[in-house]
Amino acid sequence: MTEQIRTRVAIVGAGPAGLALSALLHRSGIDSIVIDPRTREDIERTIKAGILEQSSVELLRSLGGSRVDEVGARHDGIELRWNGVGHRIDFQGLVGRSVWLYPQHEALIDLIALRLGEGGDVRFGVGATSVEGVDTDAPVVHAAGPDGRPIEIRADVVVGADGSRSLVREAVTGSQTGGYFREYPFAWFGILCEAPPSSPELIYSTTERGFALISQRSATVQRMYLQCDPELDPDAMGEREIWDELQARTGGGLHEGPIFQRDVLRFRSFVAHELRRGRALLVGDAAHTVPPTGAKGMNLALADVVLLHRAIEELVRSGSEHGLDAYPEAASRRIWKAEHFSWWMTSMLHTAPGANDFDERRRLGELEMVATSRHGAAYLAEAYTGWPFETRPRG
Ligand code: PHB
Repeated sequence: MTEQIRTRVAIVGAGPAGLALSALLHRSGIDSIVIDPRTREDIERTIKAGILEQSSVELLRSLGGSRVDEVGARHDGIELRWNGVGHRIDFQGLVGRSVWLYPQHEALIDLIALRLGEGGDVRFGVGATSVEGVDTDAPVVHAAGPDGRPIEIRADVVVGADGSRSLVREAVTGSQTGGYFREYPFAWFGILCEAPPSSPELIYSTTERGFALISQRSATVQRMYLQCDPELDPDAMGEREIWDELQARTGGGLHEGPIFQRDVLRFRSFVAHELRRGRALLVGDAAHTVPPTGAKGMNLALADVVLLHRAIEELVRSGSEHGLDAYPEAASRRIWKAEHFSWWMTSMLHTAPGANDFDERRRLGELEMVATSRHGAAYLAEAYTGWPFETRPRG
């Protein structure tokens, strides 16, 4: 009673990477299937960060069906604030690029509707159980449907777009964890609240009490974060205490309102030791994770699939594995730049437990340098708005 499926590309994971890759492949006339153990509602409701680089927005617009220009908001800069004084980093003035605040679940709603609307095979409630034959040219994904019914997907290529707890990663690296890894001794306590925006742009603020980020979701809902202990119980603080802390860490002036969601985000940097084994390849969080400070997660996932799309196209059109061979190194160049940027923004903006007064003054010196040096500010602006996507592996 096993359902047998034959397709070109088996994509494990219906996040931004998996869905965007299936849309790109469709535009090249290449069939794929996308499977994900979650329900469509789960995927469309899970709250994640939402800064899109300029190239990510251009990609989503080019695929069609994106509401980024109606629902998203263009941001031409951010504010760095320390000890209550703000310094604007003017992205447009420095590098002529912008970012868009567009929550990831909105991008997912668009991509799912797009793929289903064009007849794409996207299956919810279908979880991969194992991947076999990655060293042959006919790999197989074994999966289980919502009713537990076994499904066998035969493909030319298997793509692991299945997030930080990736199953496909095991088939690629030989272990669940195999990668370059760093954990940070702090986390973010995030809230969603009903209030008008406190600022037209994001505020990244640091004080002796720790870091705070003032972000937005809409005219009536705001997203804010406080640096916290990774073990913090999100329900431990009362609303008054949260607002007092947010006000104290930003120098005050925030619009307050009822808090209706709380969560704690762990800070990790990770890059898998291998991004490819034979006909199995990793993209997005399955390949790498970044701490949220640089807002790189979804962008890096989209940059991976733009590269991988061309590599798969080459395989299908000419039988050449040249693009697949080149993918790990080409993707790694951007991944490590983004890993560095995310680590750097994180280190510059957070008080590390155990930091002494020299460390703290040096950190303020770094912020001063970034805010007052055109070259320092331009690096931040260039990295934050994102390097142009590479479509062909160099070299
Ligand atoms: C968010 O709005 O959730 C957000 C924005 C910027 C970041 C991280 C998270 O750097």
